[in-house]
Amino acid sequence: MSLLTATTGLAGGISVAGWGIALPDRRVTNHDLARTLDTSDEWIVERSGIRERRWAGPGETTGPLSVAASRRALARARMTAADVDVVVVATCTPERPMPSTAALVAAELGITAGAFDVNAACAGFVYGLTTASALVQAGVAHTVLLVGADTMTSILDMDDRATAVLFGDGAAALVLTGGPVHEPGAPGLVASDLVGDPAGVDLLVVPAGGAERPATAATVAAGEHYLRMDGREVFRRAVRAVEASIDRTLARAGATADDIALFVPHQANARIVDAVLSRTGIPAARTSSTVDRFGNTSAASIPLALAEAAEAATVAPGELVLLCGFGAGLTVGTALWRWGTPTPSGREAA
Ligand code: ACO
Repeated sequence: MSLLTATTGLAGGISVAGWGIALPDRRVTNHDLARTLDTSDEWIVERSGIRERRWAGPGETTGPLSVAASRRALARARMTAADVDVVVVATCTPERPMPSTAALVAAELGITAGAFDVNAACAGFVYGLTTASALVQAGVAHTVLLVGADTMTSILDMDDRATAVLFGDGAAALVLTGGPVHEPGAPGLVASDLVGDPAGVDLLVVPAGGAERPATAATVAAGEHYLRMDGREVFRRAVRAVEASIDRTLARAGATADDIALFVPHQANARIVDAVLSRTGIPAARTSSTVDRFGNTSAASIPLALAEAAEAATVAPGELVLLCGFGAGLTVGTALWRWGTPTPSGREAA
């Protein structure tokens, strides 16, 4: 089957008009953590590939980081608030329980378009990208401001060495623009796969602070507002689920690992990425890696790596980018995206 014709029906002319990232200033190295936790640089690097991460200070949480990344993405796209038809923020650590972080971003930027959050934890950006593409394909929106942002330090137990060393904070935004035109080979979503592993629903949780168990002095005293994770089991399930999701996505597109110009996996753990590469045959040389510098930034990790690649022109118009995330739920999401940026004439380059 031809790569150009075998699509999910969502493929179309959607280009990436702009991108931007925002990171907290504070850089926390493994050596910094080893001063307060029973851990070491050797353990963290060997088990995760992480060397340092950024941790948010005041004014650097999910909302402000999303706003800063969005401003950069809009400036790069040479667009203003009036050009945006919908704002989507993928996050599992929203600025506030209500309103959505997307609504806060829209208010701050003077965007009067609709705005909503997507929560699929660390897979959130792929879910947001699929949702945004569907809105464009359906003719609901022409231009979408899509953000992946998380402040994982807001739910980290800094005394839990098994989780505190793994996560970081950050945000990245893309401006997607296009129309409901389906042309073979056009930029945009070629195929996607959104799946779950319900047997893993309890492996990564924040037990309290929601509707079931609102925060009380007792839940806070018990540390139930912190993230709890069975890391070993998440690791085991993630590798299998990610491999299967990539296989399905490529099969839907009639593509193989050789067709991928750039692989942008969720940056949770270098060992998970290595295992996925050896199972799928995707070359390491075509794989983005930021985990050593930023750690696991949850919904921000894929767009951060993608924005870096776009900035470095690692991916060229017409090439295929494979994005794959997994996270609490367990949720898994894979998207095969044909890269394209608008040309000065307004026609998409692909
Ligand atoms: N420093 C030193 N020792 C540690 C640390 C640490 N920071 N953390 C745990 N250990 C110890 C454990 O206590 C354990 O000690 P024990 O053998 O005496 O009991 C030992 O190291 C081994 O622990 P494991 O958990 O078995 O180590 P593992 O090799 O599985 O690595 C890790 C742990 C890095 C968490 C790994 O399992 C992993 O990355 N899992 C995936 C997690 C993930 O990707 N989560 C994100 C999902 S995305 C989202 O939605 C947020």
